[in-house]
Amino acid sequence: YDYDLLVVGSANADLVIGVERRPAAGETVLGSDLAVHPGGKGANQAVAAARLGARTALLARVGDDAHGRLLLDSQRAAGVDPVGVLVGGAPTGVALITVDPSGDNSIVVSPGANGRLTPEDVRAAAGLLRASRVVSAQLEIPLETVVEAVRNLAPGSRFVLNPSPPRPLPEELLRACDPLIVNEHEAKVILGGEEAGDSPEDWARALLAHGPRSVVVTLGAEGALVASAEGATRVPSVKVEAVDTTGAGDAFTAALAWRLGSGASLAEAAAYAARVGAAAVTKRGAQESYPTAEEVDALCCADPGATAS
Ligand code: RIB
Ligand code: NA
Repeated sequence: YDYDLLVVGSANADLVIGVERRPAAGETVLGSDLAVHPGGKGANQAVAAARLGARTALLARVGDDAHGRLLLDSQRAAGVDPVGVLVGGAPTGVALITVDPSGDNSIVVSPGANGRLTPEDVRAAAGLLRASRVVSAQLEIPLETVVEAVRNLAPGSRFVLNPSPPRPLPEELLRACDPLIVNEHEAKVILGGEEAGDSPEDWARALLAHGPRSVVVTLGAEGALVASAEGATRVPSVKVEAVDTTGAGDAFTAALAWRLGSGASLAEAAAYAARVGAAAVTKRGAQESYPTAEEVDALCCADPGATAS
């Protein structure tokens, strides 16, 4: 394989304003100065993996505009091969993000060019897919584009999906996931009205019954649960001071996908990914906050007592 990871997904310009609290309907609040960061769940995953040392490519679409150039520059600076980043067709996607004092965010995405990444674009990039050990995707691009990606995987390669923002998924896509990575909300949307119990173990069991070979349920400060036919294991989180959680989940997914491709078990990969995600919440922005492998190791060794469940 030429690439450890190919990310098929979105690229957005993140327009970020800090707020004391979010406005209710009909209300206006004043916030901080505007910051513009490279973002989008796909572009974020690619940068996160490349910064850790993975040979990474991104299949995405941006507009022929200043935001598109910001995203391409950020991919190149991180060492991502931008050969699969298509340009034109619509303006670059934009995410309007508010961040509150606790570091939590709310996001509205205008897909723009992400919505024009088509199944034909995936077929035209079949060589890139065949050259990649692991392929990861999210749902800020059309669902049929993600389905086309799983139809073009290399034999022996692995597919990882974070279905965000969530929607009901076809069986064909669910069966390809190894793992499907969800938080509580995403798990419930994918399970639809199905009665699935109250615990992450219950949700994981219910999701596995729909076909994924493995499932990871992320639990925020509580860590994560990894589950497959062999059973379920809890993985602890790493306690850090949260500054901005934007994109931390993307860093988690990318790190997990890369470690799995390198032969780690699901529990090992998730434990490593939890450290990467923790490092990302300690800094502002998404891509700019992602750690190198050395920074991840430093986080683990600086304070061994900081790990808790
Ligand atoms: O997951 C975080 C990302 O979600 C942001 O970078 C924003 O672009 C939205 O896609
Ligand atoms: Na961050």
